[in-house]
This record gives sequence, C-alpha cells and structure tokens, in this order.
Amino acid sequence: MSFTADRLLLFGATGDLAQRMLLPSLCALHADNLIAPELRIIGTARSDFDDDGYRNFAREALTRFLPDFRKGAIESFLPRLSYQVLDATQAGSFITLSDEIGTIDKGMAIFLSTAPSLFEPTIAGLTQAGLTGERVRIGLEKPLGTCLESSREINDAVASAFPEDRIFRIDHYLGKETVQNLLALRFANIMFEPLWNAAHIDHVQITIAETVGLESRAGYYDGAGALRDMVQNHLLQLLCIMAMEPPASGDPDAVRDEKLKVLRSLRPIRGADVTSKTVRGQYKSGAANGAPVPGYLEETDIPGTSTTETFVAIKAEIDSWRWAGVPFYLRTGKRLQERLTELVVTFDEVPHSVFEAPPPSEAANQLVIQLQPEESITLTILAKSPGEAMRLKPVNLNLDLGETFKVKVLDAYERLLMDIVKGNLTLFMRRDELDAAWRWIDPIREGWAEFEERPKLYTAGSWGPAASSALLGRDGFAWHEEQ
Ligand code: BG6
Repeated sequence: MSFTADRLLLFGATGDLAQRMLLPSLCALHADNLIAPELRIIGTARSDFDDDGYRNFAREALTRFLPDFRKGAIESFLPRLSYQVLDATQAGSFITLSDEIGTIDKGMAIFLSTAPSLFEPTIAGLTQAGLTGERVRIGLEKPLGTCLESSREINDAVASAFPEDRIFRIDHYLGKETVQNLLALRFANIMFEPLWNAAHIDHVQITIAETVGLESRAGYYDGAGALRDMVQNHLLQLLCIMAMEPPASGDPDAVRDEKLKVLRSLRPIRGADVTSKTVRGQYKSGAANGAPVPGYLEETDIPGTSTTETFVAIKAEIDSWRWAGVPFYLRTGKRLQERLTELVVTFDEVPHSVFEAPPPSEAANQLVIQLQPEESITLTILAKSPGEAMRLKPVNLNLDLGETFKVKVLDAYERLLMDIVKGNLTLFMRRDELDAAWRWIDPIREGWAEFEERPKLYTAGSWGPAASSALLGRDGFAWHEEQ
C-alpha cells in the first residue's frame, strides 16, 4: 500500500549510527524541506531521557556531526523529536510506546538500528502492541545475521509481522548517488551495452578502501570481520549493479530480480579454492593520514589472539553467458593507504594493431567509476601523442559529477530514510538477495576455517598484504594503483 508516513520511530536512537548518520540526515532533509512538516520523529532506547533530554542529546550529536552550513537548521529541527524509554525485552514497554504514538492515521515508518539480538523481541513487542498494521513499514539496518541461518531467523521473525513489500533492508551503498549513476550510465546510454560483456571486457576490479580503523566498534567488528562487514553487502551490491542484465523497468522488483540472478550465478568458492581465490589480511601497526596507528591486535577491546580479517580480496566469477571467463576482483580493507571506492572496467585490446609503435605499457581502454572520495567517471582511451611519429598515449575523458551538477547531492542515509518514509523499495535488498549473498559468503568462511587460512599481516597505511597483488599477478593483472 502506498503512503507517506507522518511518524518515524527510531529504535537505537542513542546509538552510534543515530548520532553520526540518522539524526544528521533527518536534520538535512528537514533543512531542505524534503520531509513533510508534520513528520514526527520518536526516538526510543534504554537511556533514561525525557523529550527535552533527548533533544539536548540530539543537539550535541548534530553539532558534532552536521557540516557547518547545516547547523542553522538544528533548532527548528529539534521540536520534531520526542523520546520514549524502551527496553525491548519488556513487552510492557511497547504498550507505553503505543500510547505515546497514538493513532496511526497516515502511516508510520520504523527504523531498527539496534543490536541484532534485539530484533526478535522488538518485532514481538511491536506485534503485541498493535504497531505492525498495514500502515506501518519497517527499515532494518545491518548486520542482518552472521550467516545464512542466523539471517533467516531474523528474516523469519520480521516476516511474521510484516509482508516483504513493507520491509526495507538497508545497504547504504545503494543510497549513494554514484551507485545510482552507475545504473544511469549503464541503462540510459546505448554505447556501453554492446561492449558490456565477456567478448569485450578483460576484467573488472571493485575496491572499497578505507583509511579508518575500528572507530569504537571493536565488539561488533571483531565478531564480524571484513567479509561480513563489507563484502556480503556493499561489495556484492556494487558487483550486482555492475553485472546485472538490463531490468525491464525501474520497478523495484524488476531491478531486484536482475540483481538476484547475478548473485545466484556467482561461482561458489569452497574448500581448497579459498586459498587460491581469496586473501585475508589483518593490519599491523603503521600510519594513517600521516600519524602512527596501532595494529589491529593492539586496538582497545580486541583480543591479542584475534584472527579476524580487516582486509579481503576475492577473485569472483560469474557463470553466465555475459560474464563467462571475466574475473571480478573484489577488495576491501581498513587502514589502507587511501579512502577510495572505485570500479575499474578494463576492456580488451583491439584485435589487431594498425600502428607500428608498440602499445604503451600504461593501462588504456579503461572505464573508472569513482564513488568516493570524489564522484567521477573517467574513460581512458589511446590518443596520438603530438609529434611526427605515430605514438600512442593513454588520455582521460573525465567527468567530475560534483563539478558538473554543482548541487549538493543527498547523502546515502538522507536518500534511504526519505525512501522509507515515502515507501520506495528500489534501493533496498529483498530477502532472496540477502539469502543468495550469504549462500556465497558462508562457504568462504567455512573454507578459511577448514584450511586454517590465517590473515596475512599488512602494514597500516599500505594497500594490503602482498598476497593481494599476487592474486591478480597470477592472472597477469595488477590492481589499478599498481598499473
Ligand atoms: C559500514 C561498515 O557498513 O560501511 C563500516 O560497517 C564501514 O565498517 C562503512 O566503515 C563504510 O561506509 P562508507 O559510506 O564510509 O564508505
């Protein structure tokens, strides 16, 4: 049912995500008049605040995390907020909450950003208190489980109260403007599609590199590791958008059907394959942004014996007509040299060179789509270098999206929160996608355990362990920054 919610109920309203992302995004939407004036935001958590206490808490978070040009909007935003103390394990709490919310006339959006162990009691409490009716939809923040089985338990619990078309599973990468631009690039322009296949593409690299370390999330991160934290969701979603067939329309299910097909066509990596197709890494002490930083095992609250990976590189293969034989190299890590999210598509060389000069050693015939830190699309082609001889040199056709549009783009959470309030499912993961992603990820973890594949150490501030370069080197390739 289509409706725009006039209530937004935030579970985990005092958490890290609420402070850094949710409250600032909501305040930004408010400042830009992108949410209706009547939208009321009700925060819930265990901390003992009244409405004013929570507004003060929110004010502090907004002062810290909103960019300066937005800070003028804080005071007019705060009156939208109210707060209800809630212990999700106590059914009685939800009855009080329901009284506070009152009748839901227009509609309510719930956003669950709590510890996963609280998902099931929260759903049970909401159900008992009558807060799951057909004018209520729910947004779920990761982690949605730690493997297929635990993810199914969470999804079953949610499905007992909400139909799939009212469940919004967040992958904030899908809310990024450039990810949507990738869809536009592929499906609004004819020139790439004829080349977008195994006959013309040599290989693809997808990198999400971070310079940050644990950012006070040691407890969660040590239990998760880079494979579950980044590959299972963000990297696989980027891979899907890059590799999917053109959907029949922009309808949410048309898009999600095509992403699902990609996930289901991923060749399983299991058993001994993990040693040849994946690399696990863990950072040791080094530098980040010019300052010395400790190694992972020296971080506060990380056990000195931890074997959690902070880096992963994977050679993924898609068993389909379009992609047979094209490797997709995926890579992510913390404490790497640069913050960089990019997709690099390397096209084949021309079948026959008509020029006498040998082709340049630098990479050409490449499309580089950078998502972070800048949003740009660069096509590297060969051109004649000025001079008498016919010498070829790679040159860049460069589109800087920020410069081109010169308007502030919505942050991922601004876009996604707005979509939950308005009910647009396109940028959210469907349950079968999540299942398929876990089905591919679980055997990798099992293989690591079976073959005692311990993380290889890399220096903080580098591009990861040497084995990561060797993974591509064995196939005759190199990571983009090494070319
Ligand atoms: C989150 C991960 O999903 O994505 C974090 O849990 C990671 O570990 C973050 O730092 C990266 O997001 P972004 O938008 O900063 O690239």
